[in-house]
Amino acid sequence: MERISAIKELRQQVAARRLAGERIALVPTMGNLHAGHLELVKQARQRAGRVVVSIFVNPMQFGAGEDFGRYPRTLEQDATQLESAGVDLLFTPSVQEVYPRGQEAQTAITVPGISNILCGASRAGHFAGVATVVCKLLNMVQPDLALFGNKDLQQLLVIRQMVEDLCIPVEIMGIPTVREPDGLARSSRNGYLTAEERSQAPALYRVLCETSRAIAQGRSDYAALESEGKQSLMAAGFKPDYYSIRNAADLSEPNGEMQKLAILAAACLGRTRLIDNLLVERQEFPCN
Ligand code: PAF
Repeated sequence: MERISAIKELRQQVAARRLAGERIALVPTMGNLHAGHLELVKQARQRAGRVVVSIFVNPMQFGAGEDFGRYPRTLEQDATQLESAGVDLLFTPSVQEVYPRGQEAQTAITVPGISNILCGASRAGHFAGVATVVCKLLNMVQPDLALFGNKDLQQLLVIRQMVEDLCIPVEIMGIPTVREPDGLARSSRNGYLTAEERSQAPALYRVLCETSRAIAQGRSDYAALESEGKQSLMAAGFKPDYYSIRNAADLSEPNGEMQKLAILAAACLGRTRLIDNLLVERQEFPCN
């Protein structure tokens, strides 16, 4: 596995591989890799001859008072895992390499509408930071394919809209969430949880499953389901930010016709903010 931190060298390496006719996949990450990231790499390897992974803790997507400073940085451990997973190229640019004029002077990408709801409502500027860095990484690597986890469903949809709106020639793939045996979605932020919080955390998935079951069985009183979900999270020790049932395609409010829904939640356990979601198909019930 090659390790590169300069954009110029990255471009040369990737260009040579493209010229050799190889399909290139990019897995953008912020490091502190876990089974979810390794699944993205595995899926990338099945679809492309060359796999590039980027590790960059992007300051532009963290708000004031968020965890940019204490975000876990475990580069050597990550590199060992990526090497064993068969990654060809690890790209680890510095903040100076990505934002040479500084963040304030950086041309920013704002994806309207979808960036301002749910996580975007409580994390102002977060999705502009994500869209900007992902656009830059896509331009640096120019992959055929880029892979992201479905756990960050809103992020995935923001990226899809950006790619569509800006006509970026890349296929964006969402990969199913990888979970711990007790249902907790794998996340670098799980490492912040105390032992007690870790034992409470699987309730987030359990509550999402309860709502999903209720919808699959025909309930469509979404406001009531959302409020019940929030209550259940509070009873399990969480401080919910949102618990919301949306159209899975664009996170708009559901109407009677939508069949594919997403149940999305963000909730804090102590200082740690966890997010998760489940996709659910609404059943057709014959009238009688
Ligand atoms: O999901 C992440 O790890 C980050 O938001 C991403 C997509 C790598 C952009 O910094």
